[in-house]
Amino acid sequence: MIEPRLGHPNLGLGVGLRTVHFNHILKNNPAVDWFEIISENFMDSGGRPRYVLEQIAERYQIVMHGVSMSIGSTDPLNFDYLERLKRLASVVKAHWVSDHLCWTGVAGRNTHDLLPVPLNEETLAHVIGRVKIVQDFLERPLVIENPSTYVTFADSTIPEWEFLSRLAEETDCGLLLDVNNVYVSSYNHDFDPVEYIENVPHERIVQMHLAGHTNCHTHLIDTHDGRVVDPVWDLYRRAHQHTGGVSSLLEWDADIPPFEVVHNEILKAKQYMDAKLPDQASIAPAESPTAEVAVPHPLHHVMPEVE
Ligand SMILES: [Fe+2]
Repeated sequence: MIEPRLGHPNLGLGVGLRTVHFNHILKNNPAVDWFEIISENFMDSGGRPRYVLEQIAERYQIVMHGVSMSIGSTDPLNFDYLERLKRLASVVKAHWVSDHLCWTGVAGRNTHDLLPVPLNEETLAHVIGRVKIVQDFLERPLVIENPSTYVTFADSTIPEWEFLSRLAEETDCGLLLDVNNVYVSSYNHDFDPVEYIENVPHERIVQMHLAGHTNCHTHLIDTHDGRVVDPVWDLYRRAHQHTGGVSSLLEWDADIPPFEVVHNEILKAKQYMDAKLPDQASIAPAESPTAEVAVPHPLHHVMPEVE
C-alpha cells in the first residue's frame, strides 16, 4: 500500500453532492464516505445551497472540485475567484481543491466549457507557472484532473499522461485521475487507455473519478448521465492496483436517479479493488452501441449545476 501522498488521505468511496439529493441526505444521513462539491455552486455565501452545505460539512468529509479556474487560459488568473475559493475551502474544511487541465475562456469571456490545451512545451511552462501561483495563493497543493477531449491540436507534442506527470513533478501538485475521461478521450483519439493508466504517475494520484458517458458511435461524450461501463471499471481496477487505493468518486450530473442508485454505483468499486487484472494487455475501446441518443454539443463537457 502506498502511503497517502501530499497529505491526502484515502477518504473511501464518495458521491458528488447534487441539489436533488439535499433533502434525502439531510433526512437520512446516508452512510457515504465523503462528498465532492462543485465549488462554484457554493462560493457565494448565503442562500439555501450554502446553508445545506454547511450542515452536510458538519457530518461528512468534503472535497472541492472546480470548473472555472481556467488554469490553461492566457487570461490573467482571477484572484477574486481564488479568494472566494480559498474562503469556501476554509469554511467546509475541504481536504483538497481540484480543477481541470483546461481553459474555459479568453479575453474575459467564459465559454462554460472545459476546453483542451495544446500539449506542448510552451503550454506546459505556462500551466506550471500558473499552478505555482495558485498554490501559493491558496496555501495548499492543487489537484489537477485530466479532461475528456474531443479535438486535438496539430502542434501537440507530449502525451497527456506525460504532460500531467511533468506538471505534477514541477509544481508538486496532486492529480485527479478520471478513468472515464481517459476512456472517452482514448476512444475519440484512438489511443490505448491502458498505456495511459500504466504511465500516469501513480504516486501523484490523490483521487479518482468514475462516471457514465454517451456512446454516439463515432465518438463518446462525457455526459455523466448513467452507470459506469465495464471497460471503465477495468481501467479503474488497474489504476487501483497501481495507486494502492485513493479516494474514489462517482459523478452523475444528468438524469440523476435517487441517491441510493448513485451511491450503489460507486460501491461497485469494492468488487474491483481485490480483483486481478484482466489477462489481455489492452482493453479495446469498442463498446456495444447504445440506443440512438440526442447528441449534445461535443465540447460541452459537463459543468454540473453551475448557476
Ligand atoms: Fe471528472
